Amino acid sequence: MVLLLPNVNKFLYFVSKAKIMNLNILRKCTLSLVIICLLRISVFAGEGMWLPIFLKALNEAEMQSLGMKITAEDIYSINNGSLKDAIVHFGGFCTSELISDEGLLLTNHHCGYSEIQSHSSLEKNYLRDGFWAMSKSEELANPGLFAKFIDQIIDVTDVITAGVENDMTDKERQSIIDKNMNRYETSYKLGPYQELQVRSFYHGNQFFAITSTTYPDVRLVGAPPESIGKFGADTDNWEWPRHTGDFALFRIYAGPNNEPAEYSENNVPYKPKHFLPISLDGVEEGDFTLVFGFPGRTNQYLPAVAVEQLVEKQNPSRIAIRETALGILDKYMRKDESARLQYASKFARVANYWKKWIGESSGLKRTNALEKKRENEERFKAVQARKMITKKSKVLDEFDTMYAGIEDYTIARDYYSEITSRNVELLRVAGFANNLISRYESQGDAGYKAYAQRLNGFFSGFYKNYRADIDQEVFAALSEMYVENLDPKFIPQSLQKKNTTMMGKSYADLSKEMYSNTILTDEKMMMSLLSGDPASSVAKFKEDKFVQMAGEWRAHYDKIISAPYNAYKTQIDSLQRVYMQAQMDAFPDERFYPDANSTMRVTYGQVEGYFPKDGVCYTPVTHLDGVIAKYKPGDYEFDVSAKLLDLYEKKDYGQYAASNGKIPVCFLGSNHTTGGNSGSPAIDAHGNLIGLNFDRVWEGTMSDINYDRSICRNIMVDARYILFIVDKYAGATHLIEEMKLVHPKKMKG
Ligand code: ARG
Ligand code: GLU
Repeated sequence: MVLLLPNVNKFLYFVSKAKIMNLNILRKCTLSLVIICLLRISVFAGEGMWLPIFLKALNEAEMQSLGMKITAEDIYSINNGSLKDAIVHFGGFCTSELISDEGLLLTNHHCGYSEIQSHSSLEKNYLRDGFWAMSKSEELANPGLFAKFIDQIIDVTDVITAGVENDMTDKERQSIIDKNMNRYETSYKLGPYQELQVRSFYHGNQFFAITSTTYPDVRLVGAPPESIGKFGADTDNWEWPRHTGDFALFRIYAGPNNEPAEYSENNVPYKPKHFLPISLDGVEEGDFTLVFGFPGRTNQYLPAVAVEQLVEKQNPSRIAIRETALGILDKYMRKDESARLQYASKFARVANYWKKWIGESSGLKRTNALEKKRENEERFKAVQARKMITKKSKVLDEFDTMYAGIEDYTIARDYYSEITSRNVELLRVAGFANNLISRYESQGDAGYKAYAQRLNGFFSGFYKNYRADIDQEVFAALSEMYVENLDPKFIPQSLQKKNTTMMGKSYADLSKEMYSNTILTDEKMMMSLLSGDPASSVAKFKEDKFVQMAGEWRAHYDKIISAPYNAYKTQIDSLQRVYMQAQMDAFPDERFYPDANSTMRVTYGQVEGYFPKDGVCYTPVTHLDGVIAKYKPGDYEFDVSAKLLDLYEKKDYGQYAASNGKIPVCFLGSNHTTGGNSGSPAIDAHGNLIGLNFDRVWEGTMSDINYDRSICRNIMVDARYILFIVDKYAGATHLIEEMKLVHPKKMKG
């Protein structure tokens, strides 16, 4: 069935060449519809986060049938330079890629956000105005930031599972695996900045050793202003059509022999084994795309019962909690400019996954994910029955029992963590105070001081952006949800109704009382306690009612929620391991890719649009015209700088315009990505950079649970927009000069 693909491509290619310069949207959409329908037949195209070491065996043929001109060996090779040598784990949470032979690194603006922010001040506001180092001496060091290269990925399943027998208990199995891992890891000789980690894949069925080298001197080179790098902000987050130039530039520095080295003025730009040339030819609908990076976490192999619980119970409660908190923040941010500034980034952080979960649930429903999972389970059971493997068929029944058992604990756990570590700021502070107490009690003065030192960074920035009145209202609303919605057994003493609302107090009264009688909101006092004599500071914390309440809540949580939750989770994880292997055995002709776990993966698809809802079709490319159309002068999300307006007026696009004379901004692809893929390169059929991944479309965020090519799309900034901004907007032509710009399509003639 996969063989259909090249024909579809050819058809598309033919139609798009033969025309028809301005194929109207309607026809484009009809074309897309044809493609989407045909592609449905091919189960895998688009779906999958593949291990680079297995591309040759599992994917190369399909990739080439989709248009790829290079080989699996060109993508990942341990003997020769390959694309993988240009792919860099950025700070451990995002992806980045080398784009020059002088260590120039490209990633997202939102990945470099805290570095850009940390170099900013009122006088030099790099978030608002952008930053461009006009020579290497102006590039800015970022202590703590690192760039990690993958040296090698080795399948060590046999070594790690040696001695494991089928009839062992989980505990026996784990103890053998731990011993084997330990032995393997310590047998390896490593350099000073090298690391070897054995990681589990396919839910504990396979093991790979990953060796890596970390460069700790990574400097900020350039970033556009937020009006470009964060254009559309939260309103446009997870949305298409998108017009965000979400990119920033860094540079890796090395010691004199190109080796990793801590920051030093004497360090020199890193010489990469490979860097990505950048294509000026851009993309067309149907073009092959490959995204190479470090996706964080996915759950593709859950049983239906787990997905049902997520959609029916877990997502609704997490969404409701965040919605309540966001509603309160929004109210203050709207009426008060200083509150808006103080809470903008916290709001964005909470809103990001709030919106994602809503999209995820609705996408799972819309694509009938549950029914599909159930059908698949029936297929699975039928194979098991045919082979008379009764033991493994029972896995699904056991899942039912375990998920029924864990449900209340999952919800209570979400409530607890959303409230205490996400949405009520003072509960986080109280958590730190309780940690200080326990450090002091277990390790004395030294323990207290060391921990207080670590908290310094947090507290030095905390109060500047903290409003106790807002937080107090959030606490009132969320503690009410906790008490009213959860089983009474989950409520700690001090929040139980018999001690609070039944005493005639409303949640607002209760919250007010708590916030007026605590030292935690008092910046001066807190700073002096952190740096003061440990014994007297601890005494002060211990007598604080808010600290006591938070401590009691935490202890109650550990015992009544977390412990039983973990007991169920251990059993579920073990079932998931058995189920994963059983599925692979039952369907030997299907390709299985391991769930994402922040290790290096390749995903591929094509440039394509989609139908977000009935009667609406999205085409896959946006242009600068769309930025101008969204322009709202003075609005913090949709403002456009005078400079960009001017370039647009003059159509001063240089070599970066597309063949239609416009500057492209973003494009869509059917590449299977997730959080952590931010900053990943989008690569063309020849191995050149064509774009920079930074988001997914809202309708398709369920790709973490159940990828569906009909609506799952990743969003990339077009490389030409990046070049246009660096060159024409910032005038940083010296950066363009160190890059390698190519014309792969024109070369073909
Ligand atoms: N949705 C993207 C991601 O998950 C971008 C988030 C940053 N942007 C924002 N407006 N909050 O990371
Ligand atoms: N913005 C996400 C990130 O920071 C990528 C979007 C997604 O979740 O796919 O990794």
